[in-house]
Amino acid sequence: MGSSSSQSADVAGPTQLEDKYYPEWIKNPENIKDLSGRVALITGVSTSSGLGFYATKALAARGAQCVITVRNVEKGNAVKADLEAKLKEEGASAKPIAVMKMDNCDFESVRSFAEEFKKQYDRLDIVCNNAGVMGLDVQMTKDGYDIQIQTNHLSHFLMTARLWPLLKSTAEKYGDVTLTQVSSGASEKGGPTVDTSDLNNPHPSHGLLLYLAPFVLGGTTGHWARYGQSKLANVLFANELQRRLKAAGLGEKMKSSSCHPGLAATNLQITTQKGGGMKDGAGYQKGGQSCADGSLPLVMAVAHPTLCEGGAYYGPAEGRTGAPIKTTNANPMAYDEAVAKALWEASEKAVGEEFKL
Ligand SMILES: NC(=O)c1ccc[n+]([C@@H]2O[C@H](COP(=O)([O-])OP(=O)(O)OC[C@H]3O[C@@H](n4cnc5c(N)ncnc54)[C@H](OP(=O)(O)O)[C@@H]3O)[C@@H](O)[C@H]2O)c1
Repeated sequence: MGSSSSQSADVAGPTQLEDKYYPEWIKNPENIKDLSGRVALITGVSTSSGLGFYATKALAARGAQCVITVRNVEKGNAVKADLEAKLKEEGASAKPIAVMKMDNCDFESVRSFAEEFKKQYDRLDIVCNNAGVMGLDVQMTKDGYDIQIQTNHLSHFLMTARLWPLLKSTAEKYGDVTLTQVSSGASEKGGPTVDTSDLNNPHPSHGLLLYLAPFVLGGTTGHWARYGQSKLANVLFANELQRRLKAAGLGEKMKSSSCHPGLAATNLQITTQKGGGMKDGAGYQKGGQSCADGSLPLVMAVAHPTLCEGGAYYGPAEGRTGAPIKTTNANPMAYDEAVAKALWEASEKAVGEEFKL
């Protein structure tokens, strides 16, 4: 049975595709280190058919205390029950999953979450910034930012900044902290850009493939260019964080990376279709892989025994599908230090606070 069959927390779910790698891959200790005693934070785990669900299950099965964030706690509690039931069914002696509220469309909610997290936990070893939306029309949040850049990048930037003291003390004490930003192939294809002078630009410049996306997928170039921008921002943030970690003397004890799942059958494309950015989300998913298989690059990025590397980029071997590998982002801008620095400064300005290491 494919992973996407578990939809107890969903109303209508994505296409069901067979798992090719996940069930065996996650059982192999050569793929995931022992995570006993570690605390892992995974954002955006509100459904049993999302990448965050399978990443959390894999980390919890190897001993991590997993904390998931959701904007709707009722949905989070349904996912918690499903995760715990599946872990039990599979014979894993996992710790209970903790659910915490964080709305990525609301900076105040992000700040409250981070302050509460610091009260409840005395270490933070793993961060998987996974919450995201794709290809939606322009919508301004109450903070005045477009929904795609705020949900996918700015709130994760703010959350990481607020959790920095805990991340730093964990790295200094235990020497092995990993963070990954969940990006997308849309950060690479044809070369989207980040407009650091105006993160709300409804039409940041985009590469050929994102220009053509509306003809194939639906929506407008704006839907897709803003998605490409937000996902390129994930990679730029990860790489700039790694440079700053190195400069702060923490480059070996804390590793910041980015990753992408290929094309994975989740609710993402369904939500995009509902938001007017795609004609046939479920149909598009048929060229991809199961949600569980798509979660493996996320897991590899934060928990592989030997391949976790600062500044690295992880994804499926064949691009859209395949076993997880360490790869490189095909967009040269992803490695542009001047753009990454400008994005860091633009992000500080947007969230209204400095992120100093
Ligand atoms: N699936 C793919 O093929 C694919 C490809 C490339 C990249 N990705 C990336 O993978 C990540 C996970 O997506 P997915 O495919 O697993 O889709 P998903 O099942 O739709 O998961 C996205 C999660 O983000 C949460 N989210 C959205 N807006 C939020 C907000 N304002 N506050 C808090 N949570 C919010 C959603 O919660 P709600 O239920 O509350 O909306 C949901 O739990 C995203 O960053 C996406 O860009 C996915």
